[in-house]
Amino acid sequence: MRVDRFLSNLPCFNRKQVRLLLVEKRVRIDGKVVSDPHSEVREFSRVEVDSDVLQVGKPLRHFMLHKPAGCVSATKDPQHPTVLDLIHEPDKDELHIAGRLDFNTTGLMLITNDGSWSRRLTQPQTKLPKVYYVETEHAIGPEYAIKFSEGLYFAFEDLTTQPAGLELLGTKCARLSIVEGRYHQVKRMFGHFNNKVMRLHRERMGPLVLDDALKPGEYRPLTVEEIGLI
Ligand code: URA
Repeated sequence: MRVDRFLSNLPCFNRKQVRLLLVEKRVRIDGKVVSDPHSEVREFSRVEVDSDVLQVGKPLRHFMLHKPAGCVSATKDPQHPTVLDLIHEPDKDELHIAGRLDFNTTGLMLITNDGSWSRRLTQPQTKLPKVYYVETEHAIGPEYAIKFSEGLYFAFEDLTTQPAGLELLGTKCARLSIVEGRYHQVKRMFGHFNNKVMRLHRERMGPLVLDDALKPGEYRPLTVEEIGLI
């Protein structure tokens, strides 16, 4: 239901007051200020006006998982273990993955039932840097950083990748920061130089850093502060 209709259906506001509340940015849905009267209120959305909670919504859940190699970033898979198999929480079927990783990629994976939070995290417009540690088959030359910062043309999607930052850590290892999440993006970037990625590990998504207390396969809930960073 539209938020203006939701609010005017309540006994406490008439339509004029609702218009004003929205213009004055006093209405929040799932923690986000809304001023557009068409904004959607769903069955489980939390709706607040100032500090009054008008609809409680379902508790939002956010987890950080250290994804091990050899599991699929999917909620179900007929053949392989999935990252959801590692999560032991009630109502698991309500959770989704914010930003997938390949089967053998390890590192930071975020899992939540909060759709607007995961959209903010993954949509390309947000331009949050995703930082990867990469090990390659052959030496990484100085031309890589230049090409990555210019952007690479991906014929399949007919697009040029956003500028990416490369920091060399050794002859065959580097830290790469990209703001998008195209299909197999990192492997395709190194593939441009016929250099195979041997190990790939996501260290960070924007301000959220993989907790080094988490061993591969372990997870923990995000703190209130971490959730608020996105
Ligand atoms: N890029 C890749 O190629 N694989 C991943 O898992 C993540 C980014």
